Amino acid sequence: MNILVIGSGGREHALCWKIAQSQMVDTLYCAPGNGGIADVATCVSLDPKDFDSVISFCNEMAIDFVVVGPEDPLVAGLVDRLTEESILAFGPTAGAAQLEGSKGFTKDVCAKYDIPTAAYGRFAKASDAKAYVEKQGAPIVVKADGLAAGKGVILAQTVDEALTAIDDIFGGAFGDAGAEVVVEEFLTGEEASFFVLCDGENTIPLATAQDHKAVGEGDTGPNTGGMGAYSPAPVMTDELCARVMDEIITPTVKAMADMGHPFKGVFFAGLMITNDGPKLIEYNVRFGDPECQVLMSRMTSDFVPLLVAAAKGELDGCTAEWNDNVALTVVMASKGYPGAYNKGEELSGLKAAERKTGATVFHAGTKLEDGILVTNGGRVLNITAQGATVTEAQKIAYEAVDTINWPGGFCRRDIGWRAIAREKGED
Ligand code: AMP
Ligand code: GLY
Repeated sequence: MNILVIGSGGREHALCWKIAQSQMVDTLYCAPGNGGIADVATCVSLDPKDFDSVISFCNEMAIDFVVVGPEDPLVAGLVDRLTEESILAFGPTAGAAQLEGSKGFTKDVCAKYDIPTAAYGRFAKASDAKAYVEKQGAPIVVKADGLAAGKGVILAQTVDEALTAIDDIFGGAFGDAGAEVVVEEFLTGEEASFFVLCDGENTIPLATAQDHKAVGEGDTGPNTGGMGAYSPAPVMTDELCARVMDEIITPTVKAMADMGHPFKGVFFAGLMITNDGPKLIEYNVRFGDPECQVLMSRMTSDFVPLLVAAAKGELDGCTAEWNDNVALTVVMASKGYPGAYNKGEELSGLKAAERKTGATVFHAGTKLEDGILVTNGGRVLNITAQGATVTEAQKIAYEAVDTINWPGGFCRRDIGWRAIAREKGED
């Protein structure tokens, strides 16, 4: 089949890398893609927000299947539009993508279907949100309701901080995403991510991962899209995975079907493992970036039949297979990220790093300029390695990092630290 992947990040490079290995693929396209995706797919300069152009391209190139990577086109209804045009697509409809597009929507689903999550209030007026904060006290969490590129969450240590956050959100700090505010209980525990494919009715658990959101070592400093990740997440025992399926995922599948928005695609459940058991922090309705890189690295099944089965409602009886290794990815970012940074810096040594260490380099913000690979974003490369342990995978990943020549880049040197402490018996 001819397949089009939508997106341009490390996640889409990992998806294209995996999809390109399938016997089912005739031609693989990626729109718009990046400098590394160009090695495994034909990149096409389409704007994923311009649905008409996407549809015309699909018709012209006889695309049989579209895989949508990022949340924005999903929430905006790209899959609805492709379906209207009889083009098969992987990913939820706009109705089902509300699970990521509106935090208040998800909290209401949790309340109605008794899904464990932080206690919350949902507000359209600053005064009501503030009264709730005053009543609950701090620490407390204030969130812009809509999509805010991972930045709309304020973990307030004091009531004053929470009140300021409410003013900021209603004042327009996150644009339309801040038309409503969710205020919730501050949860404590260890975080993990759990990925589950769903065809509207049937589910298959994929794998678990843990990411590092903060820019600085020891998980300090401002939050980013993710500075590294590893899979599996050691905190997620088989017993906990089974509980998450029973207590969180299965009721969500039922809720979405009951509401007339059956969920087809991948659930990316952000979880807090608390003393009272697993609780849902949030849903994303697409693969994580960089979590996808470690998942694709470990998956041994052909992924295309699974993606197609999820889109067609035929997942019943399917399984996904994984190797027993740990995969770990280190993000190399432009100095300054998540603030201002340069673009257009030359990158070299990537292939040598892969040959020397066996690691895989997935590209995020890169592009080819007259045949030369240059930086084109904040997060630029994802150095992904496997090992029998997190310690071993980390060692290989940093050997590869040190082979790459890019003076303008930086990375965290402690990706996987919590799991490594566990392996050493320190946790
Ligand atoms: P979200 O975008 O909702 O995943 O939030 C971003 C990050 O904020 C999460 O990964 C958590 O680290 C943290 N967070 C969100 N909600 C809560 C909560 N209710 N309690 C504690 N931490 C939270
Ligand atoms: N790494 C977190 C995300 O993709 O949202």
